[in-house]
Amino acid sequence: MAIRKIAQIGHPVLRQIARDVSREELVTPQIQGFIDDLVETMRDADGAGLAAIQVYAPIRICAIEVRNNPRYPYKPPIPLTILVNPVLTPVDDELFDNYEGCLSVPNLRGRVKRSVHVRCQAWDRHGKPIDEVVHGLKAGTYQHEVDHLHGKIFVDLADPSTFATWTEFDRHHRAAFVEQAQALVARVGS
Ligand code: NI
Repeated sequence: MAIRKIAQIGHPVLRQIARDVSREELVTPQIQGFIDDLVETMRDADGAGLAAIQVYAPIRICAIEVRNNPRYPYKPPIPLTILVNPVLTPVDDELFDNYEGCLSVPNLRGRVKRSVHVRCQAWDRHGKPIDEVVHGLKAGTYQHEVDHLHGKIFVDLADPSTFATWTEFDRHHRAAFVEQAQALVARVGS
């Protein structure tokens, strides 16, 4: 396993459209080793998720995991999840304000509207189908990661007047956001 370099905003790879991975390709040692690297890189950088395109591989795979995350201590845990060829569909029109950050966007957070309930259809790392409805902050994380596979970064969707460095977020926005996020978690369970 290896920790890979994470592409930073401005690198054209982050604007590519990732391609689907076939089942035949998914089971190869190359792709399985790549997924191990993706997970190791996400954990090393304290990310809540990491898309393959962020490590210069424009293929439709992303990793998501939250456990005692120092970047996002208010996020409820998410077990390690690998999404291959994910398709997200909002279940209804309900939205919430999520204050996001990204390993490809150094020292910036911003507020993004996200669907509260989304259906996720994908494969796991072994090609087994996943079909689940995710909610709240977890749904926000899924939407952020799957956006990367479409060449989108949270800054494209954020209200620019909410941009904050991590220090100024902590000083001026964190308390209100955490209160709102906790109310969401209490209501929808994640
Ligand atoms: Ni990101």
